[in-house]
Amino acid sequence: MKREKSNSKKPDGKRILVLHGPNLNLLGTREPQIYGAATLSDINRSLARRAEAAGIALEAFQSNHEGALIECIHAAREQGIRAIIINPAAFTHTSVALRDALAAVAIPFVEVHLSNVHAREPFRHHSYFSDLAIGVICGLGHQGYLLALEYLLNTLDND
Ligand code: DQA
Repeated sequence: MKREKSNSKKPDGKRILVLHGPNLNLLGTREPQIYGAATLSDINRSLARRAEAAGIALEAFQSNHEGALIECIHAAREQGIRAIIINPAAFTHTSVALRDALAAVAIPFVEVHLSNVHAREPFRHHSYFSDLAIGVICGLGHQGYLLALEYLLNTLDND
């Protein structure tokens, strides 16, 4: 279970949670021809830098356990998280429970995948999350997370 916080000095500010599902802790060495060379720390660092520049508090959490991710989503509501960026990884294609957790807290979220899941095996074509998501970004590698954050920064600014 890994949790990283950035600029948490602004607890009442617009807060964003980034959730990474199973095996994403291995990024950098895990099938780099599919998932790229960036590590999870690289990705979290670049998100933290961008959020900090925008004056937004951002928290990142990775787990290989479905229940831990679900509990983090439940806690997000109490913590006043305004939006979630989630790569559910393999749980994308299997987890009704994680989908239900996001539906239950009703926090808007963007679904991100490093690889283009639609160009891969048929079992990766279905997501339990996409119809609930604000939007889905896939196939753009680690840049997908930054694009999702950029979108949220723009839209959170306007409400
Ligand atoms: C993934 C795609 C999933 O199919 C896979 O199980 C992952 C990563 C991606 O980021 O491309 O673990 O979500």
